Amino acid sequence: MSFPFEPFRIKVVEPIKPTTRDERDRLLREAGYNLFHVPADSVSIDLLTDSGTSAMSDAQWAGMMLGDESYAGSKNFYHFEAVARSLFGYRYVMPTHQGRAAEHLLFSTVVKPGMCVPNNIHFDTTRANVEHQEAEAMDLVVREAYDPHRDLPFKGNMDVARLEETIERVGPARIPFVMITITNNSAGGQPVSMANIRATRQVVNRFGIPLLFDACRFAENCFFIREREPEYADRPVRDIARELFSLGDGCLMSAKKDGLVNIGGLLNLNHESWAQAITNMMILVEGFPTYGGLAGRDLEAMARGLEEVLDEDYLRYRIGQVRSLGAMLEDSGVPIVKPVGGHAVYVNAKAFLPHLHQSQFPAQALAVALYRDFGIRTVEIGTVMYGKRDPATQQASYPQLELVRLAIPRRVYTNQHLAFVAEAMRDLYHRRESIGGLVMTYEAPRLRHFTARFEEEVPAGALWPGAGFAAAPLS
Ligand SMILES: Cc1ncc(COP(=O)(O)O)c(C=O)c1O
Repeated sequence: MSFPFEPFRIKVVEPIKPTTRDERDRLLREAGYNLFHVPADSVSIDLLTDSGTSAMSDAQWAGMMLGDESYAGSKNFYHFEAVARSLFGYRYVMPTHQGRAAEHLLFSTVVKPGMCVPNNIHFDTTRANVEHQEAEAMDLVVREAYDPHRDLPFKGNMDVARLEETIERVGPARIPFVMITITNNSAGGQPVSMANIRATRQVVNRFGIPLLFDACRFAENCFFIREREPEYADRPVRDIARELFSLGDGCLMSAKKDGLVNIGGLLNLNHESWAQAITNMMILVEGFPTYGGLAGRDLEAMARGLEEVLDEDYLRYRIGQVRSLGAMLEDSGVPIVKPVGGHAVYVNAKAFLPHLHQSQFPAQALAVALYRDFGIRTVEIGTVMYGKRDPATQQASYPQLELVRLAIPRRVYTNQHLAFVAEAMRDLYHRRESIGGLVMTYEAPRLRHFTARFEEEVPAGALWPGAGFAAAPLS
């Protein structure tokens, strides 16, 4: 059997409203061909993100009814704190309303202008938060991560030699901490090995630099460690997680992924003076430290989610479901990033639409076609998200990877839903030459993918270099 066993029964259902192709075509025009602006109830299968889209369990919903909404010292905070301490092992536990709030608290307190923050690859909000402090966000992932065809077990790994060389060149005083993102979302949800984390630890130890994790998908990463690093084959995932976090000095996390909740995040640190400064900042921008921008019931759901995510039957199903979708796409010849990562299948849009130049936003064009023809929403991780334009010369630069991410929400879609997605993608692949490019007509200075607008026709003469970008933001 190609699909994994789904270790749950469905107790509540949410209807999916069918839409016609004409309706979706109109919605796309109204949305400026930006799928973030399409109303969710006009989407049949929503693979935009795995973030905040999980189905909570009966135990989590029951926990919501035990919410203690006291301003200070809610019992749900103490439960959350105990779970986080036992799992991550850090002294200071700070809840936040989502991942980027934790990023903002940490970076605005610790990162100063002119500093550098190395990471395997920064997620877009992480990068934006570093750059917001006028610091440099450096991606030091192993080079194989940029080759969508290399099937390696740990393509999320840090390039330890380059990290060492970078610290020597930049100087440790300009590096407040090194980060490792587990799993590495921006290059295909690829895991990082324990051996690589240990090697990174040795390097940072030499320079006295702290090591922090972006731990959004830590349980998925630890499951891969068990599958792929022989010495961990018989170890419970919880123990693997404890060992992994013991190699760091803290972590931040969007609990909207492996916390199995719809909202929530956390920041856990050992560093006393950082924790103190962040707590003061938190009171200013998020809330009192025992609720951190969340309701008591949200803290309870998060505490329970962090326990549930380590259930190995769940993780086997989770990783297996994503892997099955990847296998179906590959069987149809659809080019995907190999190996399939933990939370999503990434389609290689450069190989899918070789007739389009990156200046024509091929990954965005593919995502638009998938929605228009099948009602399936995905997200572009390519030129729209990571492309840049030199402010002086207007010259465009393009990311190496041009991907469409099919992110799978946790416990939401059945195996049959994913078989439908695979069929839709196969159909599009067979008539791929009919898919045309896009022109960007509006871009914001930061995180432009959320608000960018496009048109379908490529104006005559608008070709490389810099084509596809309007000369300046239009509104
Ligand atoms: C690796 C990584 N870091 C940080 C974030 C930001 O988290 P949030 O969306 O909760 O602010 C995300 C969200 O997708 C992510 O994937």
